Parts: sequence; C-alpha cells; structure tokens
Amino acid sequence: MNADSNHSKIEQLRRLKEQARLGGGEERIRQQHERGKLTARERLDLLLDKGSFHELDMFVTHRETEFGMADKKYLGDSVVTGWGTIDGRLVYVFSQDFTVFGGSLSLVHAQKICKIMDMAMKNGAPVIGLNDSGGARIQEGVVSLGGYADIFLRNTLASGVIPQISAIMGPCAGGAVYSPALTDFIFMVKNTSYMFVTGPDVVKAVTREEVTFEELGGAMTHNTISGVSHVAAENEADCLYLMRKLLGYLPSNNMEDPPFMKTSDDPLRMDERLDSIVPDNPNKPYDMKEVIRLIVDDGEFFEIHEHYAQNIVVGFARLGGYSVGIVAQQPAVLAGVLDINSSDKAARFVRFCDCFNIPIITFEDVPGFLPGVGQEHGGIIRHGAKLLYAYCEATVPKITVITRKAYGGAYDVMNSKHVRGDLNLAWPTAEIAVMGPEGAVNIIFRKEIAEADDPEAKRAELVAMYREKFANPYVAASWGYIDDIIEPKETRPRLINALEVLRNKRDTNPPKKHGNIPL
Ligand code: HXC
Repeated sequence: MNADSNHSKIEQLRRLKEQARLGGGEERIRQQHERGKLTARERLDLLLDKGSFHELDMFVTHRETEFGMADKKYLGDSVVTGWGTIDGRLVYVFSQDFTVFGGSLSLVHAQKICKIMDMAMKNGAPVIGLNDSGGARIQEGVVSLGGYADIFLRNTLASGVIPQISAIMGPCAGGAVYSPALTDFIFMVKNTSYMFVTGPDVVKAVTREEVTFEELGGAMTHNTISGVSHVAAENEADCLYLMRKLLGYLPSNNMEDPPFMKTSDDPLRMDERLDSIVPDNPNKPYDMKEVIRLIVDDGEFFEIHEHYAQNIVVGFARLGGYSVGIVAQQPAVLAGVLDINSSDKAARFVRFCDCFNIPIITFEDVPGFLPGVGQEHGGIIRHGAKLLYAYCEATVPKITVITRKAYGGAYDVMNSKHVRGDLNLAWPTAEIAVMGPEGAVNIIFRKEIAEADDPEAKRAELVAMYREKFANPYVAASWGYIDDIIEPKETRPRLINALEVLRNKRDTNPPKKHGNIPL
C-alpha cells in the first residue's frame, strides 16, 4: 500500500518535471527550432559538462492575475536556472526560455536569476547568462521593472568579484540589454541575436530612420560599430563552445589565480621568424597577431573585440601554462594609432585583467594618438585618459615589449616603466622618442630647412641624423626606462621567466572607496 502511494507520488513528480522541461510546449519549441534557435535547455546541455546541470526552481510560477494571466502558467516560468560545471569547474547559469511569454522577465523570473547570482557570489563562481528575451513582462508592469533593477544591482556588486559572461541568443530588447551590458563579456550569435533599447518600429516613429533589426542591433553591428559585444559567433553551438573556452583563461573569482594549464610547448622555444618580422621601412605595416601567435603557447590566442577598433588587439593566451591578457597595437590597421575606440577597448580589457589577477603583456608599436577634429571633439583626451588610468591603477604583473614605435604620450600610456611596468623590454628595432623623425625635424629645424639652398636635401639629412640619434631603444635604455634590449626570438623565454619571477608580486593602491576613472 505504502509502496504504491509512494510510487504514484514519484510518478507525479516525474510528470511535473517533464512538464517543466517542455517550457512553453512542443509547438513553441518547434517554432524556436524553425527560427534557427535552440531551446533554453538544449543550450545548457551544450554549455555545461555532460550530466553536470542541477536545476533549481522548476516549480516556480508567475503571480500575475490581470490580463487573463491566472490561467496561463508554466512550471519554472520563462527562465531555467541552476549550476553545473565547465571543464570540471563550478559555474552558475541562467538560460531564458523564449517559448514561455517570449522569455520576458516576470518578477519570479528575476527572483530565480537573483537566487543563483547570490549563490555564485557566496561560493565564488562565475555566472553565465544565456539571454533570449522580449524584455520586461508587459502584463506585470512596474513589478517587472523592479525585477530588472534587482538584477542590475547584483551585476554591479558582483563586478570584479566573479566573472560574469553573457550570450545573446535571440532578441534582447528594452531592459534585457542592460544586465548583459553590466557583465564582463557579451557574446552574440550572427543572424539570430539582436540587442537594442528600442526596436526599429520605435526608432522609425521617433527619428523617422528606417533600419532593419540586423542593422540596428545585430551581432556584427555590435561587434564592429558600437563595441557593445565582444565576440561574434557563427551559430549557437559555436557561441557556447567559445564561452567554455574563454572560461578556461579565467579564475573563478577575484581571490583565485587563473587556472594553470600544463603545456608541451617548450618555454625556451625561440622562433627565428620573429627576428625578421619588423620591416626595414618604419612606415611599412606587419601583422602583430602573427607576432603574438609565434610567442604564446601553441600559437593559441583567444581574441576579444576582434572586429572592433582593430588598430589595437586584446585577448587571452597562455605563456608557459600561465594565463595572460595581451594588449597589442596592430600596425596593419591605421598604423596602430591610439584613438577613441581603441583606448576604450584596451582600457576595459586592462581593468578586467587587473580585477581577476591576470598578468598583462603589452606589445607596443604606436605612432601616437590620432590627430583630428573628430577625435578631439569626440573626447580623445577623456578616452585616452581611461587607458592611462587603467594601466596606472593595475597592480597585476605588467610586462611591455616595444617592437617598434613608442612615440609621444602613447609611450607613457602603454605600460611604461613610469606607470609601474614590472619589466620593460625593447627589440633592437624600437624607436622611442617624443615624436617621429619627420615631425620632429620639421619643428626643431624649421629655420635651418627654410634657409637651406636645397630645403628637401637638408630635411632628408636632418631626418637621417635624428633617426640615427633618437629613433632607437638605446637612449631610453640609458635612462633605465627600458630594462633590457632583447633579440626578438628571445621574447617567449624572457616573458615566461618574467611571469615566474612575478608570480608573488604584491602591489597596492592607496586605500579609497573607489577611484574616479574619466568615463
Ligand atoms: C510579455 C511577451 C513580451 C513581453 C514577447 N512576448 N515579448 N510577453 N511581455 N515583453 C510574447 C508575445 O506576446 C508572444 O506570445 C511570444 O512572447 C513570442 O513573441 P512574438 O512577438 O510572437 O515573437 P517575435 O516575432 O520573434 O518577436 C520577438 C520580439 C517581440 C522582438 C521580442 O515579441 C517584441 O518586440 N516584444 C516586445 C519587446 C519590448 O518592447 N519589451 C518591453 C521592453 S520595456 P504568444 O502567446 O502570442 O506566443 C523594458 C523596460 C525595462 O524592458 C527597463 C529596465 C531598465
């Protein structure tokens, strides 16, 4: 008798859980698949280690009674939450279920997310959010807005304590964009994900601009133009794979070091190709990503913001098994100049690394800040100051390699000795001075050039003299601003040695509530 009644209760539990797993039902799941999208649970299956997902709050339902909502309830409401592992490491997850009220955010949806965020903070593990939502649950009104604010607060308090990573896997409208925007990294899926505060219809009504979903807030728009998104994935499976990969470079919280990964790539490996990678002509470009790949473990570089402000390159790699953040000028794009967008991009990355104990390696080849009315009026002073601020305040191990140009203020900014660079190296091809030879000669020898019989010949002679005298690393090294000048092929072993030496580095900033970075 007892066994029978227990059995039927277990059957009932199974039925309810099965019902919860169906979300908005089979028809809506079919529609989701037709749109080229996976369901919330299918996504978690791909993201997490097999069988590691533990779901919470499957029996939660919304409380709304207006608009006929009392009869429309779905077990778990419009989000799936819980914990699981990625490569054996604990992560907390939420995955919005578009098949239930378009993944819109009800109060209980917000409460489910807040619950796992609170657990993640207590247990020091990352939060990964898979977003696919029509924004605030319109039927719930202000209660839904309150739910968003509860999440925003937690995003902000968790910032710099645990990594927070967002994927956009469908429409994200209204309030749905701001929680991802407060997290550390946003991944978007090409052709199926959108982010905007107001959609094309509202834009048309207000500004009369006609714009498609894709142009307004598609993956490539936010990866190339706005910089809101950090990674553009080809499809959902690719997106989830890349998120797993990124996590491998990050510690679980700000009290841990990033995971060490034993490598078969020889720490003493020297690649001769580095010795000839910088062209003889200082105005000729080369690919800094090639430099990075020749130096790091197994040539593997996980680029962040690959399509945005390409004159600077940022991303994660390993050196001798240690996770590092790399910031590098890209001479192949706009000569690697520092402008508004590249300053913002690099500043944010430097600050992320500093939050999470990830050493920063800077490869420098920068002709200076970009001149122009557009840049000045756009606030290059304010934006460039962000990068300066980020490097100055960072206390993680900071190593610089100057491959070629380090001119002007950009020399100071890019982790110079003066802003607490721990090890500043230069290749023999480095040129470190206030400005490039042509500009310098035109200013300091204006009179001599004007008065010469052959001004052009005089200019060329003075440029050659200036280059010989100043466009090299030896003057800076003579002041101790460069710790050593190395052969390019020695870079990998020297960096790995420095990372080992700096492993126990401790540095602090003066006690304060927080600084006032020039936003
Ligand atoms: C309740 C919603 C909803 C919402 C969608 N649905 N959004 N229900 N609240 N916000 C429901 C639809 O009624 C529909 O239900 C189902 O989800 C699927 O939606 P469709 O419109 O059929 O899907 P699709 O054509 O793919 O369009 C998706 C969409 C669109 C682009 C997201 O639904 C949309 O524009 N939604 C509203 C977006 C929005 O303006 N949200 C409020 C933002 S204000 P049925 O039952 O018919 O299948 C906001 C303020 C917060 O978020 C601010 C905090 C800072």
